[in-house]
Order: sequence, then structure tokens, then C-alpha cells
Amino acid sequence: MLAGYPEAASAEALAAVAPREHLLFDFDWKFTFGNLDDPAKDLGFGMGQGDFAKTGDFGFAKAGFDDSKWRELNLPHDWAVELPFIDDKEQLSHGFKPIGRRYPESSVGWYRREFDIPASDKGRRIWVEFDGAFRDVIVFVNGCFVGRNNNGYAPFRFDLTDFLAIGAKNYIVARVDASFGDGWFYEGAGIYRHVWLTKMDPLHLGKWESYVRSTLSGSSAALALGTVVKNDGTQVENARVTWRILDAEGNQVATAETPAQSVPVDGEVEFTAEAKLPDVKLWSVDEPNLYTAIVKVESGGTARDAERVKFGVRTATFDANKGFSLNGKSLKIQGTCNHQDHAGVGAALPDRLQWFRLGVLREMGCNAVRTSHNMPTPEWVEGCDRMGMMMMCETRQMSSNPEGLAQLEVMVKRYRNSPSIIIWSIGNEEWQLQNAMAEEGEKIAFTMVRHCHELDPTRVVSAAVNGNNKQGVSDALDIIGFNYNLQLPDKFHAEHPTRAIFGSETSSAISTRGVYTTDPLRNTVNSYDGVVSWGETPEEWWKFYGTREWEAGGFAWTGFDYRGEPTPYGWPSINSQFGIVDTCGFPKDYFYYYKAWWGREPMLHVFPHWNFEGREGDMIPVWVYSNLDEVELLVNGKSLGRQKVPHLGHVEWKVRYEPGMIEARGIHDGKTVMTKKRETTGPTTAIRLTADRATINADGEDVAVITVEAVDAQGRNVPNAGNAIAFHIAGDGRFLGVGNGDPNCQESDKKPKRSLFNGYAQLIVQASKRPGEIRISAEKDGWDGPNLTPAKLTITTKAVTPRPSVPVIRQG
Ligand code: GAL
Repeated sequence: MLAGYPEAASAEALAAVAPREHLLFDFDWKFTFGNLDDPAKDLGFGMGQGDFAKTGDFGFAKAGFDDSKWRELNLPHDWAVELPFIDDKEQLSHGFKPIGRRYPESSVGWYRREFDIPASDKGRRIWVEFDGAFRDVIVFVNGCFVGRNNNGYAPFRFDLTDFLAIGAKNYIVARVDASFGDGWFYEGAGIYRHVWLTKMDPLHLGKWESYVRSTLSGSSAALALGTVVKNDGTQVENARVTWRILDAEGNQVATAETPAQSVPVDGEVEFTAEAKLPDVKLWSVDEPNLYTAIVKVESGGTARDAERVKFGVRTATFDANKGFSLNGKSLKIQGTCNHQDHAGVGAALPDRLQWFRLGVLREMGCNAVRTSHNMPTPEWVEGCDRMGMMMMCETRQMSSNPEGLAQLEVMVKRYRNSPSIIIWSIGNEEWQLQNAMAEEGEKIAFTMVRHCHELDPTRVVSAAVNGNNKQGVSDALDIIGFNYNLQLPDKFHAEHPTRAIFGSETSSAISTRGVYTTDPLRNTVNSYDGVVSWGETPEEWWKFYGTREWEAGGFAWTGFDYRGEPTPYGWPSINSQFGIVDTCGFPKDYFYYYKAWWGREPMLHVFPHWNFEGREGDMIPVWVYSNLDEVELLVNGKSLGRQKVPHLGHVEWKVRYEPGMIEARGIHDGKTVMTKKRETTGPTTAIRLTADRATINADGEDVAVITVEAVDAQGRNVPNAGNAIAFHIAGDGRFLGVGNGDPNCQESDKKPKRSLFNGYAQLIVQASKRPGEIRISAEKDGWDGPNLTPAKLTITTKAVTPRPSVPVIRQG
């Protein structure tokens, strides 16, 4: 079904250039639950007063501690997705998972890992770096407390150098407490992003201090280059910095260097330079050309530290009258907002799944994503850079307090070289700051916007505002974002003719995949026109934003369904129904509205399915999404006539149901150029397995995403099949998770069995590090229901050089 998505190593792994080492620290951790309320069940942590009294006393982070009963696992890991669902209305936002202060047994997790630091590391600075964890993390190394983190989305890191034993075994422990939340949606629990061990010279580049800013002139670009060099060593250094700029093929296309500067002990010094990039290949949504800058610091005649920075050259401008332009060409933002969880894995996505998800969104013509409502994972941003997906990158906490500014700063520094990012967002729908505390809101927003501009003068800053944008945070913003409220932008535009406007959040249409009636008893929403009271159908909002020249476009809520916020119903629904695709990425019918009007290919989609046994004689609405001129509908070969497709609209018929076939014919310039049909299928007779990729990398990380279907004797998908399927996975891989996109399904994501939801389920398998094959078989689960012919599928796992990682120490 999907167009390709990039074969890519992670941005972080690519960032390492000798002499620096950047090692993935994901494999072979031990895990156990702690306890919020009972120190005896929390490794004795907090039993008395003196936990932090003396340095070096935490026995669980030392040799000799017995973790043999702890579970072995690899990161990224989300323990919330492993827990059962519970009927507790307070847990609605979190997808009815028992996480929080009222669930002490399942809200604290301990991670432990033994690792070697070789003698050759003597003299290096060694950091542990977390890309993000949920949520409050305390890190211990070799019995010592080394630091803590108090939010669920920003990366954090600690310098371990002083605590490490060189040429010996070392022990790291992280206590992760998920009892507080940051949001009102599923947030997972645990170390759900990558961890790294980074080793470098005491004279090194500052973290995320390197930037490349470009100014285009004719066919060349002037590059402003900057970085910071830090000296954690014991003597003053006379350092200089060089840049090598490489094109996508690795050819050197520009260089720059700075004069030497003295960097004092414990000090840091900024270095800047300029370069000219001739015949520049611009980054765009169609041609996402990237460049690489290799930044190197030298002193005493040797390279001391280096890193690789990916960047792209493009202009992105917002205009009050002309909307958005990329590289001087007008372009509507055809965006979706997305949370970060996926079926089967919760918040702990292997990198490949990030790219898979971007592939699904691209397939429907989406050209921009908003990372609502938090700083994204690096692999999502990297995927956007490589695939030509624009981004509105949003921080979690809208505040000018130290935590809020720190989150903002790390987001801007971390991603400011990514060409995909066109808007920084300082937050979403802060009711207090927009209304009751409007004056404070304005001051807070000004401080945040100013900080963004200091760190990155090249991008606009905005926020997602649900209101009239006349007070509070809005005055501070470079461009104005409206959430919903289609009655507001025209008036605002007339009254503020110099302010550029876009739809920061729109739609909130709801639908259940493959369902055509709204049924509050079954918690389902029809796929024709479901929408919440404050929202707009795809057709309504896109007719608004897509037709006003001054509107930059907007971001629909949401691309993917997500756990938690199970609107419009509560229990037993466990995920939202806002998605244009479900939690697995299976398209709902709305997907094809967007594909018709956002895509550039001729498109025709007819729905519903035609399996309405027992409803013979009922009038059933048949809709067609198409961007062709006209559509003709035939029912069992008989024409019901042609209709002209309204611009940005759809055509519909009412059809008396009888089994057989409905067929839509798409007409362009008077000729039928496409046909699509839906046939009444026979009963399910077999299972079909289809993988997104037949060969994956044997790197311990890569995954295959497998579509599981029930088919009839003619091999047609049975669109209302709900058969229970069991999976067996053997060979050089493992079961990672399973889902079916049903917002009301409470089966486990972590057991290798699942019932289909309206004909589909999704199985995710992960490669081991041994090249070979993963053998998957699927068969009917249990005794009920008709027999099904089982299915088999083999995925090849090919030898690759895995990215550098911290060597595994086999226990016992
Ligand atoms: C918005 C909010 C989103 C989501 C959405 C549901 O107001 O920003 O996070 O809750 O409503 O319609």
C-alpha cells in the first residue's frame, strides 16, 4: 500500500565522527517494578532519611547487587502498554492504564545495566544521554546519584566521567517514576526513547551548539557557521575549528576554518566562520536535498572532537496576504497533528516505525506534521528531513520558568539545523494565559519568543491558540495560529492585515475504520461525516483553509489515532477516534478525501464496503472521493448516473442494498480513466500476511510491519471480519507487538494473538542481530468460528554493520 520511506541510520548515530564515540546504550537492560508507596518494594529507596546523605551509598547501583530475577529487555521500552486496561474514569486520558499516584505498584520502574569502560577510555569525558523518558528519572552510577530529570519529552544527559571506574565494570541504574503526567493523552511510561554513551576528548564541541544558517543569493548560499568549544581538561588549549561541507553524495563542496582562540580550563569559547555553497540544491518537499557539515575542533596539531551536522538550504516565509511559500513558491501547509504512540508498542517506537508512520502520512498527501504537544523524538525529525515533510515543532510546557525555558532551549538547539522545521511552537491552548491571566500570558510568551529568536533567528515562532487571538500570548507571536473556530480567522485577517495566519489545529473529525453507522452502544462513529461539536469535517476545514490565498494552510487533528482521550466515548473505548488513519496506520475513509485533494495523482475511492448481510432493501449512502471531473456509479452493472465532483467536495448516492457490486467510474475529459469497485465477499476462508518489507536489517532494531487479513475463497479482503488469529514467530527475530486499530479493543498489544478489526490487524516483528530469516505463521486462535487456512511468511534479515553500541555483558 505504501510508497517507500527512507533506509536510514539514526541521526544520532550519524552524528558521531572520530575521535568521538557515540554508542547506542539500548541493549540488555534489566528491569523491575518499584513501588511509589512502599520503600520495601522500591529497593529500599526512601526507607529512611538518609538516601542522599552520603555519596556512593546506593547499593543497587554497585557490583554484587542481585538483579538475577529482574526481567531482561532492550530499550526503547514502554511499560504502560504492557499493563492491562482498567475501568477507572480518572485514567481516561492515559488510555485507561494504571499509571499515576493511585497505582503505586505499576508507576515506578527500575532499569539496571552493567557495562565495561575499557582502559583506553582513560582521560576521555563520558556522558550518558537520554533522548527522553517518561517521566521523573533519577540516575545512579556506581553507587552515586548523578542527576535527575523532571519532564517526559526533553532529552537529558549527565557527565559520568568522575564516577566511572576505568578499565573495569560499571553499573548504571535509572529509577523512572511515571506518576505525574505532562499531558491529557497517552504518554507511556519508562525509557521510551534511545539512550547513548558518548565518549569524547576533554576539549570538545558543546552539545547542540553547532549551527549552519544559510542565506540564498542566486544559485549559491552564504553559510553562517557557529559552534562552541568547551575545555573540560586541565590545561589551557589553543583551539581552532574547521568545517567541511559535503553534498548528499559525500563530495566536499565548501570548507571554512577559524583562527585559533585560547579556551581556558573549565571555559567555553564561541567560534564562527563563513562559507559559500555554490550551485546549491535546495531542500523542498519534493526534493529533500540535504548537506552535511563536519565540524572539527583541533588543538596541538590533532583533531580533538568532531561531529556531523545535517542541514538543508531553503527559504520558508509566511506572508499576511500570500500565505506560506517554500523557496519562493506558494505552498499550502497540508498538515496533520500527531501524538507519538503506535499500535503494539505504545510510546516505545523502533526508528523504523517512525518512518513507516511518516510514509503513511505522505501517502495521503500530507506535507507537514505538528509534533503536538511536545518535543519529538530525533528519528521523527530526521525522517521529516529526509522525506521532505515540513514540521511545526512544539514544546511541552508553555512557561518562562526555568523548566519551561530549558525545554524550549533544548528543542531549538537540538533541531535548528533541520530544514523540515518551519515553525517553532511555544505551546497549545493555554486557557489561563489566553484569558484570566492574559497579561501574564503575554509576558510569558514574549520571553519564550525572544529566547527562540536568540537561539534561532531564522524561523517564525507561533502557538496553537483556541480563541480569538486578540489577547494573551498572541501579541508575542510571529504568526497567528488558530485552533478550530472557522468563524474567527476572516475577521482577524480583516482587522490585522499584516499578521500571517495559519490553522494550528483543525478538524477533529472522528470515525471508526470500516464502520458506517454511529452507534453509542458500540462506541462507533460512522465514516461519512463524524465530527465533534467544536470540530470540522475534512471537507469543511479544507474548503476554508484551502481556498483563501492569505491562509498558509493548517494541521488537522489528527493523522494517526492515539491512545487515551477516547473521544467521543469513554470506557470501553481506549483510544481516540480522531485519526485519519487508525493506531496501526490503516486508512479510514477520510484518508481518501485528503488523498484526492492534497495529492497530485488522479484519485478515486468509493465506500462503504458492500457486505451488509441482513440489510437487504435498506437505503445505504454510497460516497465517492475523487479529484476527477465526474463520477458514474453502477450497482450490479446498472448505472445510477453521473455526477460532477465539486471542487474540494465529494459525490454521494443513496443505494438500495442488494449483494453484488458497486462500481465507481472516474471520468476526466469525458473519458473513464479509473474504476474502483466494492464487492460483497464470500465468507472468510483464509488468512493473508503481507509485510511492508521482505528484507530487513539484522541489527537488533529493525522491524517488519505485517498486515494481517482475512480473505474469502477469491482472495478478497473480508471487510467486516473479526476472526481471532494466533501468531508464531521463529528464527532470527522476535514478536514486538500487535494491534488492530479498533478503538474499543482491550486485547493485549504484547501477546502474539489478536482478533481482526474489520478485516485487518497489524503484527510487528523485530530482527535479532543474527542474519537469517524470521518465520511467521498465523492461524485461527481458539475453537470458535469457521476454519481458516493458516498463512506463512518469511522475512529475510540481512547482515549490516550495526550502529556502534555499548558491548553487552552476558550475565552469569
Ligand atoms: C484540542 C487539543 C488537542 C485535543 C483536541 C481534541 O483542543 O489541543 O490536544 O484534545 O482538542 O479535539
